[in-house]
Amino acid sequence: MPEAAISVRDLRKSYGGVEAVRGISFDVLRGEIFGLLGPNGAGKTTTVEILEGYRRRSAGQVSVLGSDPAARDLDLRRRIGIVLQSSGFYPRATVRESVEHMAAAYPAPRDPAETIDLVGLSEKAGARAGKLSGGQLRRLDLALALVGDPELIFLDEPTTGFDPAARRAAWEVVRKLKDLGKTVLLTTHYLDEAQSLSDRVGIVKDGLLIAEGPPSQLSRDRASYRVSFRQNGRVIDHETDDPTELLHRLTGEALARGERLEDLSVSRPTLEDVYLELTTRGPE
Ligand SMILES: Nc1ncnc2c1ncn2[C@@H]1O[C@H](COP(=O)(O)OP(=O)(O)OP(=O)(O)O)[C@@H](O)[C@H]1O
Ligand SMILES: [Mg+2]
Repeated sequence: MPEAAISVRDLRKSYGGVEAVRGISFDVLRGEIFGLLGPNGAGKTTTVEILEGYRRRSAGQVSVLGSDPAARDLDLRRRIGIVLQSSGFYPRATVRESVEHMAAAYPAPRDPAETIDLVGLSEKAGARAGKLSGGQLRRLDLALALVGDPELIFLDEPTTGFDPAARRAAWEVVRKLKDLGKTVLLTTHYLDEAQSLSDRVGIVKDGLLIAEGPPSQLSRDRASYRVSFRQNGRVIDHETDDPTELLHRLTGEALARGERLEDLSVSRPTLEDVYLELTTRGPE
């Protein structure tokens, strides 16, 4: 069993009288990409910022690379990289200056120019942060998280505002981190992103972890196959556990009528289907 990079046990956080995180437990193993998913206000950023050492927990145990992040130990901070959900920049500093400044805080940083290239910002290296577009600023966030060459990277909605090509490029960056043996804790509202990148995901709702596992496992455990086709201009959907038998019957009947099944497809429920099923159900 590989060692855990992050371990969370019965984590709780109250703001005033309101408990935003109500007893969450999970582990992220070294070298793993773990996706934390859930609706707005579910408690993802609260959890992630406690692990980063930015917020104090109300109760529970957490361990990050073997230390308690609440101690805000400098050695631990040098081993982690962070993309905050909303970040602050010096608007007058250029991209290059911002990245070089961050690199100086780490003992063995990556090359700043190479890091800027990695996130696709080379053409804007001389531009002031205050003059970047929303998606470009988010790429700068990613560069700042990576330049220290940390072991563990927290990415809170790292690709929000990215255009589709930039999102795919960011996925490649995250995959490269995994190839290098780094650990990544990611939050995202893009379920295709979570499905494509995460080894495992946890779904948080109302401060509780309601499901956890590899994306393919969550889909497989929950729902059956969907067979769909078009008939007289209408889409007909069937759910089945045995698509072989169903297809045989449907295609047999169509052929007997001398017809073809238009736009015939067999699909597995996606992570998004499972997520929506789990998170839009009322309280039990
Ligand atoms: N500093 C704060 N003071 C008071 N309440 C807060 C504070 N930060 C967060 N909350 C509340 O805690 C709950 C969880 O917020 P959190 O930011 O962790 O959600 P999230 O899952 O990251 O949501 P999103 O997907 O919108 O980013 C919300 O109800 C929020 O209003
Ligand atoms: Mg958040």
